[in-house]
Amino acid sequence: MRRDSYRIFSEGRIGNLVLSNRLVRSATWDPSILGIRKMTDEVLNLYRELAVGGVGLIITGGFPVYESRPPGEEVGQAAKTFDDLYVDGIERLTDVVHRSRPGCRIVAQLETGYLNARPSTIPSPFSDAESRPLSIAEIHSIMDCFVHAIVRMRESGFDGVQLHGAHGGLLSCFLSPTRTVVLTSTAARRRTGSGSCARLSHRHGKKWATGRS
Ligand SMILES: Cc1cc2nc3c(=O)[nH]c(=O)nc-3n(C[C@H](O)[C@H](O)[C@H](O)COP(=O)(O)O)c2cc1C
Repeated sequence: MRRDSYRIFSEGRIGNLVLSNRLVRSATWDPSILGIRKMTDEVLNLYRELAVGGVGLIITGGFPVYESRPPGEEVGQAAKTFDDLYVDGIERLTDVVHRSRPGCRIVAQLETGYLNARPSTIPSPFSDAESRPLSIAEIHSIMDCFVHAIVRMRESGFDGVQLHGAHGGLLSCFLSPTRTVVLTSTAARRRTGSGSCARLSHRHGKKWATGRS
């Protein structure tokens, strides 16, 4: 049987994003660059090999867009925004992937980062840690950080972004009807994921693919 008769090697699509095949490297955290906020040759070499190896889409590990520490901790009591968290030289990552195999696509995963705050005080099934409810102002500033991060990732050459919405992360808490007691589920959706998308398309046009995974 010829390789191109397998569906996995056929063209795929996520929204407007056209993929040369359906092989996807799932998001994998790169702590070495997040700690020093700087791209390294080791990470560039890994992504070069992934592209040359033939995957249709690479999803990066999660990049935090907003971070705050619990009160009382010495480090970083003030919230950090995406500009503070930006990895210097990140455009080298997209460049190495696109140069190594022009058909390969690369998407940046974005997440909120460390927060001891949740949509409500209802305990999370994923963690015993105590958390406080977010204020509406904080929710808006997190949304703005997502929008800002998406724009900067686009300027850095990424083909799209993936919002981390899994296993207890902040966005996943907004998706749970049992944890969003203050906001109604419709209002919560408007104020988190789809709210950020609306802000993004209002400010920057509907140029990016939207897909659900
Ligand atoms: C070392 C490591 C780092 C990971 N980092 C992330 C991450 O940053 N974001 C994410 O959504 N998933 C992350 N994952 C989960 C993977 O993307 C994947 O969903 C998971 O490993 C299950 O796929 P598998 O059965 O093929 O390993 C990570 C997994 C591993 C092993």
